This record gives sequence, structure tokens and C-alpha cells, in this order.
Amino acid sequence: PDGDTPSATELGFKPVAVSTANSVVVPEGYTAKAFVPWGTPLTGSLPEYRADGSNTGEEQEQQVGMHHDGMHFFPIDLKAGGNSSTEGLLVMNHEYINQTHIHPAGATGESNLDGVIISRPADEVRKEIAAHGVSVIHIKQGADGEWAVVHGSPYNRRVTGGTEMDIRGPVSGYSKLVTRFSPLANQTRGTLNNCAMGPTPWGTYLTAEENWAGYFANKGAITREQARYGTGSASRRYDWELADNAADEYVRFNVTAIAATADLDYRNEANTYGYMVEIDPFAPESRPQKRTALGRFAHEGVIFAPVTEGEPVVCYSGDDSRYEYIYKFVSAQPYYAATAGGHLLNQGTLYVARFNEDGTGEWLPLDLSDAGFKAKVDAAVGTTVGAIAFDGFENQADVLVNTRLAADIAGATPMDRPEWGAIDPNSGEVYFTLTNNSKRTADDIDAANPVINNINGHIIRWAEAGSDYTATSFEWDIFVFAGEQGTETVVDGEAVVTLDDSNIFNSPDGLWFDYNGRLWIQTDGYSNEVFGNQMMLAANPVTREIKRFFVGPQGCEVTGVVTTPDSKTMFVNIQHPKANWPNAAEARPRDATVIVTRDDGGVIGA
Ligand code: FEO
Ligand code: CA
Ligand code: CA
Ligand code: CA
Repeated sequence: PDGDTPSATELGFKPVAVSTANSVVVPEGYTAKAFVPWGTPLTGSLPEYRADGSNTGEEQEQQVGMHHDGMHFFPIDLKAGGNSSTEGLLVMNHEYINQTHIHPAGATGESNLDGVIISRPADEVRKEIAAHGVSVIHIKQGADGEWAVVHGSPYNRRVTGGTEMDIRGPVSGYSKLVTRFSPLANQTRGTLNNCAMGPTPWGTYLTAEENWAGYFANKGAITREQARYGTGSASRRYDWELADNAADEYVRFNVTAIAATADLDYRNEANTYGYMVEIDPFAPESRPQKRTALGRFAHEGVIFAPVTEGEPVVCYSGDDSRYEYIYKFVSAQPYYAATAGGHLLNQGTLYVARFNEDGTGEWLPLDLSDAGFKAKVDAAVGTTVGAIAFDGFENQADVLVNTRLAADIAGATPMDRPEWGAIDPNSGEVYFTLTNNSKRTADDIDAANPVINNINGHIIRWAEAGSDYTATSFEWDIFVFAGEQGTETVVDGEAVVTLDDSNIFNSPDGLWFDYNGRLWIQTDGYSNEVFGNQMMLAANPVTREIKRFFVGPQGCEVTGVVTTPDSKTMFVNIQHPKANWPNAAEARPRDATVIVTRDDGGVIGA
């Protein structure tokens, strides 16, 4: 970090009011501009975006994807030890798509007499898969201060829902991942529903597979590995398995077991999803790697602890679903800067968090070589865990494929939808958003999730024992409760935060500490006359002062934020805006990045 005011966490801007306008609002003295919207030509023949939705699947494979989400800016000279703030690789996720907007007249296809879709045009399916995944975009700031895509750069790349990738770590080669595509169970195609992410200490990008379960359909008996994640009898999303050319790459979304073909159908395809996926943006020919040691669940994102030479690598990841958990991975091998790489993520211990009522907490290992966990697993065999009749785990790979079930057995604390995490560069504390949980009742509240019908969410934080990220215990508190005007966060009988006009918000989701230590909070919740559109706020983690910095256009969520190393250019993503944004002349909305700068060239937020 080389911001003008290192370690400065004061919020120097004038907060913006809530807004219902179909435009981006930033504070006085700041400018916001849309950048790299869905459909921007990126690779190959650079096909131009057509505003009527008529770009083909092949063209979408060469354009920026839809539904921008988590992102990171990698300085172009990072590998040489530099930290350019004028040129870099902007890497971003494309979480999902809108079928109405992506095609000229929405999704088409044949239905049966009951109105159930039975077939879909293959090129529509191809386009939808291509609009998912990740974009690596080489960008550069001109002398005039304007950012532009470096067309023709070898770094520009699309990873999609169809890109070939490797399965790495303990689950690689496990029989429950055998498919017709990969009889050795060590490869798969695609990454889907990539929500948030995390840059690694060695300059790569981990993209999270969040709500992948709904992309698959199983017409037969739902397996344990599908049931605990919500895969059902129909693909609740896009019916890709019904592509009318019956191509293997689309048929694979039908995970129904076919007796005649034994293991060589796609019954296991969904087991190749639910992981953190490593992409090296500086190696455009490299295959993405699914890092299974970090567990299989609805990964929202990942946040790495600061690394220390000779110590393990530690990272945290939330499982964004009601009553799911927060996890921590500690590598088996120590980190050395000279040799660090993705191999460090292939072996280690996955822990899940228990938040005790007294403000302490514990990390519970999900590892059969741990006697305590093994005893709990043995005791659970023959019982019903949640709604699942538990018959044991075959091995550690089975534990990881069934991470949620393992965490149930370990006795983790069910949370109010853990979304992004962030680590304070000054205090070392770990923060996580708990976005909301309208199902939380008086019967299941606890100290860490204390709000009945928690429609607004809160932000929790903890400090590891002895400031050691590998510790197995921690102390936690609640940083702030979101809500309407007057919502209080009380510590020792005193309101340390009382929300007012300048900072009411609901459903915190994106969370990021900038390089100076300001905390940025993004929302994905409900919009009404009180809260207006979704927004981004900045917080001082020391004083808990919070100010609204940014309001998005109508219908969107605000998700994904990063700055250049000098903290003078900020990138913010707008996902699923309504019509006429960002181009008022176009009927079709386009997800886009917003570039925020200060008119006086200063540090964002200062
Ligand atoms: Fe894709 Fe949990 O947000
Ligand atoms: Ca989203
Ligand atoms: Ca999110
Ligand atoms: Ca969300």
C-alpha cells in the first residue's frame, strides 16, 4: 500500500443521501463513470456488442460476461514486485444471467402441454454459459486520466461455465467425481455462479462457486451430496440440460443416474462444483484449478490472512445460505514467498466456526485424523443429521464433498447468511457480513445471531487468540447492526452506533478493507422509500463512524469493490440494474463496473 495517508481511516467526504434515481450517486467532488459493461468486446475477433440481444454464443465467449460481482485489480508489474496504479489486470466474476435481457426475446424453447420446457435452442444455452464465469481485462489509464481496455493484450481472457479445469486437493480422483468427461475424477468443465473472490498472497485469483446447486437436475433419487445443497429434480435456473443438440457439454447438467451406463454418465457432475477455483491472471494459458481442500459449499468468497514467512497460509470463507457456517483453512505447508503458489491450498485443515454465547469462539476441525471429530462422526453414524440419514464418511475426500454435513456433525454455529469477509490491515481483526435471515426465530437466536426475523443483517468480527491466524479459538463481537434510523449497536450498555440519515442500510454483502484501513460495505437487500436503492458505505473500524458513499441505480445490487494501490481509482460493480442503465438510449440494462475518482486526484474516502 502506498496511499497518501497510510493507516488513515478517517472518512473525509460528505455523505450522500439515500436515492431512488436510476443513476449512480457519489459525494461532492467525486466522479463516477460506467466501464466494461456486459458485452464489451474482449478477446478473439472482438465482436461488437449488439443492443438488441442478438450476439451469438460464440460472440459472448469473446465478450465481457453478465452480472458483474467480486473483482480485484492486479497491478501489471505485480510479479516484478511493482504496484502500478495506472495499468493492471481487472479480474471480475459474472455471477449469473438474466434470460430476458441476454436474448432478443428472452429464453425460447419448446414446452409440453403442461407448459414445462422440454427443449431449448443450443445456441441460447451456449450464450448463457458463456456469460457466466470470470473476465480478465487488461486495462490502462491514459495521459488524460481515462481508463481503457488494452485490446489485443494476451492477458485478456474469458473463463466460462464451459472452460476445462482441474480438480486439485484431497477430492481429486475420488470416485464420487467420476464422470464421462473425467473417468479419473480429476477434471471438469466450467465454474458457475461466481459471486465473490479473493486475491491470493502469490498474485492469483480465487473465484467462488456459490449457488451452483440449482444448475443441475436429477430426475431420479437425490443423493446425499445433492440433497444437503439443494439440487433437485429440475434445474431451477436455466434448463441447460435440455439443449436441443444434446451435446455432451450441456447434457452434463442432467445428473440423473442412468443404470445402463453405470458410472460413465453425469450423475456426479454436481460434485465437481461448490469449490474455490484458482485462476492465474498472469498466465493466460493456465488451466483453472478447483481447490477442494477449502471445502464444498455455497462459497461466497474467500479472504486471506496476511502471510508470514515460514508460517501456514490461512484463509476464511462463508457459506451464504440461511443457517450455514463460516470456515477457515490452514495450510499444511508453510508459506515462503520464493516458492509460494496454489499447491499450498492442496493440503491442510478445514475448520468451521462455533460462536459461543460469552463472546469466545472455537474453530472445529473437519478432519478424520482429528480424534475429536472422528468420535463425533462415529457417534452420528446411524442417526439422522438434519434431514439426512447419516451412514458415515468413506474418507477425507467424502468429508470435503459433504462439507456442510461434516460441519453439522462438528457442532458449528448456524449463521444469518455469511457473505463476504475482510481483514483489517491495522488491527488484524476479521470481519464478516451476515446479510439477513428472515427465518430466524425466538427459538433459535443466539448471541452471534441475536435478531428475530433478521431482515436487515449485521456485521460480526473476531480476533484470533494471540493474534495468531492458525489459533483454534477467538474472541468475537458485533461491529454493527444494520437497519432503519435509530437502529442501535450496544456495547456494555452504551449505543456505540446509532444509525441516522447518513448511514441507514440493510443487507450488508460486499465487504473490503482498502489499503489504508477504511472498511467498505456494499448492500444487496430490499429497496423502498426508506432505504432507496442499494448502496455502498465506508466505515472507520476504530470509531465505528459510518457514512454512505455511493448509491447505485434502480434494481441493482452494489457488489465488488477494489482500488488501485495508490487508492486514487476505485472500481465498483453494479449487478442486475434495471432498464436504461448505464445507457439511457438503450432499453436493455447492462451490468457494469463504475470507476470512481476524486476530482482533485486524492485518495478515495479520505
Ligand atoms: Fe451471490 Fe451471496 O451473494
Ligand atoms: Ca448477486
Ligand atoms: Ca454477494
Ligand atoms: Ca447477497
